[in-house]
Amino acid sequence: MTAKRIIVIGGTGFVGGHLVHRLAALGHRVSVLTRRPERHRDFRIGAKVQLLQGNPYDPAQLADVFAGHDCVVNLVGILNESGRNTFSRAHVDLPRSVVRGMRDASVSRLLHMSALNADVNETHGRYLKTKGEGENLVHQSPGVEVTSFRPSVIFGPGDSFLRRFASLLRALPGPVFPLACADARFAPVYVGDVVTAFVYALEHPATAGQRLDLCGPREYRLGELVEFTAALIGRRTRVLGLPDFAARLQGRIMGWLPGKPFTLDNYYSLKKDSVCGQSALVKMGVAPSSVEAMAPLYLGTNASRARYDEYRSRARRAS
Ligand SMILES: NC(=O)c1ccc[n+]([C@@H]2O[C@H](COP(=O)([O-])OP(=O)(O)OC[C@H]3O[C@@H](n4cnc5c(N)ncnc54)[C@H](OP(=O)(O)O)[C@@H]3O)[C@@H](O)[C@H]2O)c1
Repeated sequence: MTAKRIIVIGGTGFVGGHLVHRLAALGHRVSVLTRRPERHRDFRIGAKVQLLQGNPYDPAQLADVFAGHDCVVNLVGILNESGRNTFSRAHVDLPRSVVRGMRDASVSRLLHMSALNADVNETHGRYLKTKGEGENLVHQSPGVEVTSFRPSVIFGPGDSFLRRFASLLRALPGPVFPLACADARFAPVYVGDVVTAFVYALEHPATAGQRLDLCGPREYRLGELVEFTAALIGRRTRVLGLPDFAARLQGRIMGWLPGKPFTLDNYYSLKKDSVCGQSALVKMGVAPSSVEAMAPLYLGTNASRARYDEYRSRARRAS
């Protein structure tokens, strides 16, 4: 494929780091728009990548930086609100600025990151509702050829999912891990496969107008993933699923703590199983990578490998 000029917003985060790296390796020229370039001085992925400073909420600034690019990628998303950083602002106002900026810069191709279960009709969860509003907004924008991506939880090097459980488990004083929504179901998708889906859409303009659900090859309960992580880091931990009222209360209380480790909105997101009918990856000819295959490569240590193998054979015997 001929090299393209691609601009990524929200490209300094977990998914962005992997995506920008792959795009540059494929020979594309990538601009990464960040609000704070001074925080990303280590974000040097070679001569094909440049960091640009800008306000992604200002359509006029966006039009200036979009000019001359073939494609815009929007990866901005937040899991928790703080101050004026609300879900509506990040998930609806920002995509609105993006499509305005694209129109003024005469750029038509957009790859937009949404989330599985994003839905304007969601009654409680603001994350999922606003993600749904942003997704509809970009798809309904005249002149914008958009493909949107709706992944289940994404895992891989640098994730804040399995790695967060790993650090909580390491800090746990006892063998029991009390867990909210332990029965919530996920089909975690590997970050490398998510990146492959973006590249596929870039190379297949016919995906414009499509909303692509992205899932990994297997479904798990949240509790199962935590036990798996524990085994991987060499801990013998038993998950204790909290009753629903306690999970809800935990969301209320922990939402007030610094860093908001768990919020009521997170609780509402977990009330919906994050699994696909059919993952778009399969239609693209991608065999999605499993948690079992990839997580040991970035979470485990040699010392915990034996404990992990023991866990796997116990799980196999039980199934
Ligand atoms: N990770 C997952 O499991 C998962 C699952 C489903 C969907 N998603 C979606 O995938 C996208 C990427 O996720 P990620 O895990 O890579 O996120 P991330 O690591 O938090 O990175 C997001 C980037 O967005 C920018 N950003 C953050 N808050 C912002 C705000 N309030 N306004 C404007 N820009 C802001 C930041 O860039 P600068 O500070 O450089 O501007 C940040 O590097 C998000 O839209 C997320 O909702 C993620």
